Amino acid sequence: MEREKFSSRLGFILISAGCAIGLGNVWRFPYITGKYGGAAFVLIYLFFLIVLGLPIMVMEFAVGRASQKSIATSFNVLEKKGSKWHVYRYFGMAGNYLLMMFYTTIGGWMLAYFIKMVKGDFAGLDTEGVSAAFGSLSTDMPQMIFWMILIVIIGFAVCSMGLQKGVEKITKMMMVVLLALMVLLAVRSCTLEGASEGLKFYLLPDFGKLAEYKIQEVIFAAMGQAFFTLSLGIGALAIFGSYIGKDHKLTGEAVSITILDTMVALIAGLIIFPACSAFRVNPGEGPGLVFVTLPNVFNAMKGGRLWGSLFFLFMSFAALSTIIAVFQNIISFAQDMWDWSVKKAALINGIALFLLSLPCIFGMTIWSDFTILGKDIMGFEDFLVSNNLLPLGSLVYLLFCVTRYGWGWKNFLKEANTGEGVAFPRKIKAYLTFILPVIVLFIFIQGYWSLFQSL
Ligand code: ALA
Repeated sequence: MEREKFSSRLGFILISAGCAIGLGNVWRFPYITGKYGGAAFVLIYLFFLIVLGLPIMVMEFAVGRASQKSIATSFNVLEKKGSKWHVYRYFGMAGNYLLMMFYTTIGGWMLAYFIKMVKGDFAGLDTEGVSAAFGSLSTDMPQMIFWMILIVIIGFAVCSMGLQKGVEKITKMMMVVLLALMVLLAVRSCTLEGASEGLKFYLLPDFGKLAEYKIQEVIFAAMGQAFFTLSLGIGALAIFGSYIGKDHKLTGEAVSITILDTMVALIAGLIIFPACSAFRVNPGEGPGLVFVTLPNVFNAMKGGRLWGSLFFLFMSFAALSTIIAVFQNIISFAQDMWDWSVKKAALINGIALFLLSLPCIFGMTIWSDFTILGKDIMGFEDFLVSNNLLPLGSLVYLLFCVTRYGWGWKNFLKEANTGEGVAFPRKIKAYLTFILPVIVLFIFIQGYWSLFQSL
């Protein structure tokens, strides 16, 4: 059967950007930046995006496009006979599921906030009132389960409509509107009274302040965020490489996607941090940061209820565009591995993901005393994905593409450089082969070291 393709190049770029852009940009980036002291952290994060994220994205696309398969069988197609790279598919898939196991809950919060905004639930509340509203949602188990189920159903419903009619069409529209809305909100937030302190925190690096944190921990977190925001290392981008033709070289596509993703994260910061100082919210507040900050901004705006409703609606779209992309990967995995139909794969995985998403919600409610490595269940799931599976998975793609034991440098380069556009720089081979893997492993080990020390 001919593999279904995207109808246009823009569709591919926006969908891959849709996979990258999501809660990582608007929920995770601000709260991690807030936790680790602001601007200096942002610089370290940007550094990792360029030196680690970008080349690995090109590699994922290349593996997807050359094999025309999802992670289920892509390594089988490209690896040398007798080698075992394909075993990574199970870890990659575990990464996709684990990511979704908490993502569906946060996506559910976005939908819940959309409805709350429409109903005017935040009208007239002060900063404490807004915080209390979040507190009551994030401890209300039935409500959270309800929204999570809705997210899972929408995600799989879109995927079962097929690639062009479902995923491509819906994601394209959502992304464009979200971008426009965020710019507008950033302008409003930056012009709030008291915004300047937040802007300073976010934009003026103070490396001295990093001394307040353990530097290894900050670097580990910045690397994790760089991998998270691009969804690297688990084949979630590779799958889209398998749906494109050979007209364009892959480096240019990866650059466009990284720029779009970074713009959204940076704009999210421009919305959140000025609002933190204007409404005296602690930027180190943690995962609730966007939810306790933004309703204040909307309360202070003329027509805030409308803007707020639109924001959370589009934010739900952004979360959904990532969820749809990852679900698409999960569904293709089942199709490639066991020849399941789309509908069967969507149904079985829908039920599985509903069940797998429950522990995260339980961790905030009936299992709230339970911690692993000092983290609650959501924190632990996030840690497993962002600080383990994504960086180590990226290392697998990297080594597969640069060493002769895997697919090999020549094959990778030929694939990445097929078509028109910017070529992948040949000169960085030594960096990719010898330096980059060592950096990733070093940071990884350091991060664990500092984590165990802090327990
Ligand atoms: N890349 C996805 C996000 O940023 C996981 O939300």
